[in-house]
Amino acid sequence: MRESMNIVGEKLDLFAAKADVLVLPVFGGEGFDVTALVERLPESSRKSANRSLKASEFAAKPGESVAVELHDSRAHYIVFMGLGEAKDATLETAREMVGAAVAITRKLGGLSLAVEMPMGEEGDVADIAEAMVIAAQLADYAFDTYKAKNGKRRMKEMTLCIAQGRDVLRVRKAVERGNAIAAGVNIARDLVNMPAQIMTPAALAEAAERIAKEGGKNISLKVLEREDCEALGMGAYLAVAQGAEHPPKFIHLSYMPERATRKRLAVIGKGVTFDSGGLSLKPADSMMTMKCDMAGAAAVLGLFTVIGQLQPRIEIHGIIAATENMPSGKAIRPGDIVKASNGTTIEILNTDAEGRLTLADALTYAKQLEPTAMIDLATLTGACMVGLGEEITAAMGNNDELVASILESADDAGEKMWKLPLEKRYRPLIESEVADLRNIATARYGGSITAGLFLQEFVDDLPWTHLDIAGPAFAERPLSSYLGKGGTGHGVRTLVELFDRL
Ligand code: BES
Ligand code: ZN
Ligand code: ZN
Repeated sequence: MRESMNIVGEKLDLFAAKADVLVLPVFGGEGFDVTALVERLPESSRKSANRSLKASEFAAKPGESVAVELHDSRAHYIVFMGLGEAKDATLETAREMVGAAVAITRKLGGLSLAVEMPMGEEGDVADIAEAMVIAAQLADYAFDTYKAKNGKRRMKEMTLCIAQGRDVLRVRKAVERGNAIAAGVNIARDLVNMPAQIMTPAALAEAAERIAKEGGKNISLKVLEREDCEALGMGAYLAVAQGAEHPPKFIHLSYMPERATRKRLAVIGKGVTFDSGGLSLKPADSMMTMKCDMAGAAAVLGLFTVIGQLQPRIEIHGIIAATENMPSGKAIRPGDIVKASNGTTIEILNTDAEGRLTLADALTYAKQLEPTAMIDLATLTGACMVGLGEEITAAMGNNDELVASILESADDAGEKMWKLPLEKRYRPLIESEVADLRNIATARYGGSITAGLFLQEFVDDLPWTHLDIAGPAFAERPLSSYLGKGGTGHGVRTLVELFDRL
């Protein structure tokens, strides 16, 4: 696994910290006064700080920052980071601030930073610390495996300066939890960023094997080969796999907590390692980012690395029907009819609507584990991006309570999700004249919902939510100060939050 920055929490005055760059988060608003701020600095730097802050008219607005060079000090710079008004501050304020602080430290040539914990009017010190740790580790991420030089300079250390001695233990626990979560997100990002020629179904299975072996206790793995899937009648999934040279791998990770529990969660990730569209070939421009079509699978694998570390109290299954979607002489044709493992027949009219075919059999398999909740993550439809844009996941399900818990978890975790209706009136749009279902709707509109309705056919009445992560799974421009381009590991943070809400 890649090295991550070392993060420590200490009861410490910022100006006593040993770091290249000191970061002082500052709340603004009415009555904000630079003079009072400057008085907190060591005598020797007050004059230059005062001059810089006044010259740049620093008002501590969110996103505002001023760096001042320090003399007579171990640290080379102090950076004032605006947070806006204390009453408006959220965990996202802290995340954005830390992401920016890491970037500034890097730009100033520093390898370590010390940050004073920004304590607003409300907010728990442990929650803030956890959010800061995650943001710092995500901001420090770079996918530079293939770059000979010009790799991003990584941070060595971040110190969280805690004001109250009584908070130290809780902050240290939060640092540990934040590090575990961030590591899971960053592993998911690596898996997505790795090119499809490397990140094949077999490579996904190997990643799962590494997690089961080295990722902590109580995790086991089963991988089904093509013949095993044939025996289970997974005709929909195998129809997608039949055109590809790389053999499919059906991955099933299980986590059993130490103490028995009735709660059993199944998380299903779409694992199309490359989506060319198949014979319904995508145009070149749409194909360029299609290595990201296994982002749901990557989130499941990232989640399991977190699970190994955090040992949550619920039973969790991770399921991935991994395959490529390729055109070839053996590929499925528009018009072909296949049978999924639950007996449903599907007329395949567009081979680019392959995700729902793989998920049909993955959901059927998951259902047989009798989970108390099922969640699938899938880069399923371009329509989702048309509707909600690049940053927001569409959530739809058959159980309002589960959807609501997921949306709340997303909010806490700093991931954006929004509910769409599984409108029954649209159900006739996926009826086929020659089979039970067709894999594309007869209408041009509402593509995310009709895809959701298709999946619903394979879950029956089990509490289930479908997350269409087509937008935020892969960032073509940075999503925030702490989440840059490429794979985002979207979904991992939300699902970890959800564990406590199930
Ligand atoms: N993997 C794509 C969806 C996608 C598009 C994900 C853009 C991320 C970014 C999916 O398999 C697909 O091709 N969906 C089709 C469905 C259509 C044929 C009904 C789409 O959205 O065009
Ligand atoms: Zn497709
Ligand atoms: Zn796809």
